[in-house]
Amino acid sequence: MSSAREREPIGVIGAGYVGLVTAAGFAELGSEVWCVDIDAGRIERLERGEVPIYEPGLEQLLKRNAAKLHFTTDLDEALAHARLLFVAVGTPPTYSGDADLSAVHTVVDAIPASDGHALVMKSTVPCGTGASIQRAFAERGKGGLSYVSCPEFLREGSAMKDFLNPDRVVVGDEGDWAGDAVVELYAPLGAPLVRTDIASAEMVKLASNAFLATKISFINEIANVCEETGADVVEVARGMGLDDRIGPKFLQAGIGFGGSCFPKDVNALKQLAGNSGYHFQLLTAVIEVNELQKRRVIGKLHKHLGGLVGKRVALLGLAFKPDTDDMREASSLVLSARLNADGAAVTAYDPVVAEEARSLVSGITFADSPLHAAAGADAIVLVTEWSEFLKLDWSRLAEAMSGELVIDGRNALDPDAVRGAGLVYEGIGRR
Ligand SMILES: NC(=O)c1ccc[n+]([C@@H]2O[C@H](COP(=O)([O-])OP(=O)(O)OC[C@H]3O[C@@H](n4cnc5c(N)ncnc54)[C@H](O)[C@@H]3O)[C@@H](O)[C@H]2O)c1
Repeated sequence: MSSAREREPIGVIGAGYVGLVTAAGFAELGSEVWCVDIDAGRIERLERGEVPIYEPGLEQLLKRNAAKLHFTTDLDEALAHARLLFVAVGTPPTYSGDADLSAVHTVVDAIPASDGHALVMKSTVPCGTGASIQRAFAERGKGGLSYVSCPEFLREGSAMKDFLNPDRVVVGDEGDWAGDAVVELYAPLGAPLVRTDIASAEMVKLASNAFLATKISFINEIANVCEETGADVVEVARGMGLDDRIGPKFLQAGIGFGGSCFPKDVNALKQLAGNSGYHFQLLTAVIEVNELQKRRVIGKLHKHLGGLVGKRVALLGLAFKPDTDDMREASSLVLSARLNADGAAVTAYDPVVAEEARSLVSGITFADSPLHAAAGADAIVLVTEWSEFLKLDWSRLAEAMSGELVIDGRNALDPDAVRGAGLVYEGIGRR
């Protein structure tokens, strides 16, 4: 491992989930890091030592490496100090489902001609983006800039751990100095390296997310069939997961996947295929199954409560998964909207989702504890499996509720503990 003094300084463009984790991670490995964002308020907070997102371990790492981390809105500062500029700006979905690359293009436009700099793309972009950026560089007299695709695989909630212990590092480049420098930066982590061409690196990221999403939709469909046939999907998944070829991960049935990556990346790959003349049928089904899955809870509530008008429903969890405050494409958004539309009064509790993110969920009351959310509820729906929900005292909740239904949208609760409190337990695909 090279000493801290020899480590390559880097720039990181975009101080969001990926940008901040990348900045903190490389600073921890010894690099001086210039982190650039167009959001001046965010940069001010970071300069004050505040962390604008909830991500376990991030705050400690940013603090520990504060002397090596510089936050700025000025791209020139990063260009003056670093050859490698890691791009971690958002690529949200457009109305058509394609990836919106406008933030990436803003960065591409802003980089001046240079023979000594490289863009290292961490943002998830459609296959072919690197080639079109390289064409744009050449057409605008910026052919001296290098380009590397280095897709990011971190998971929110365990992002710092994932950065420091990656399953693999993928570097797509043209074999020049920039690819070598990125490989060198990651070398201390000792992760398997996939060094390949740019298009293949871009596709590794899209295909990985699409595969994981497919696994989730698959087990959700199995769960739905289990409900029709009397099998229990938890038992089925256990039996399947012990097969080495299948593995136990991503076989937890539930109310569908959300977040800032799976929904948009699966859709983007489907659109990319369509734009290239190929109809990706499997992904069309994966997306549709996921949309329907989010709504199946509504059917269960109707079945038990005999209609939702005037009924009180408590949602436990709002974030798209535990250990994050990210609400992008969270199942809670669809659920709360559907419940409102069907005339239910909705109360929700989430341990972390902040005030500003709450504006995304309209027409619901926010509680400050699970017990407060359960007060007077006809039904409780577990939406996000935060660890504090796995240790609830169900007899206290049962006393507070006016009804007795508990829908475990993540198959995360102990059915016996819930039933033991005199409540009715219903999971997803469980007997
Ligand atoms: N969040 C994840 O779990 C995850 C995992 C792997 C890959 N990715 C990909 O990484 C990319 C970033 O995702 P994120 O979740 O970190 O996004 P984010 O929305 O949290 O952060 C993006 C940041 O970029 C900033 N930004 C936008 N335009 C800019 C510009 N021109 N110059 C400087 N800063 C700019 C924004 O202000 C924001 O702070 C996306 O392409 C995403 O698909 C995300």
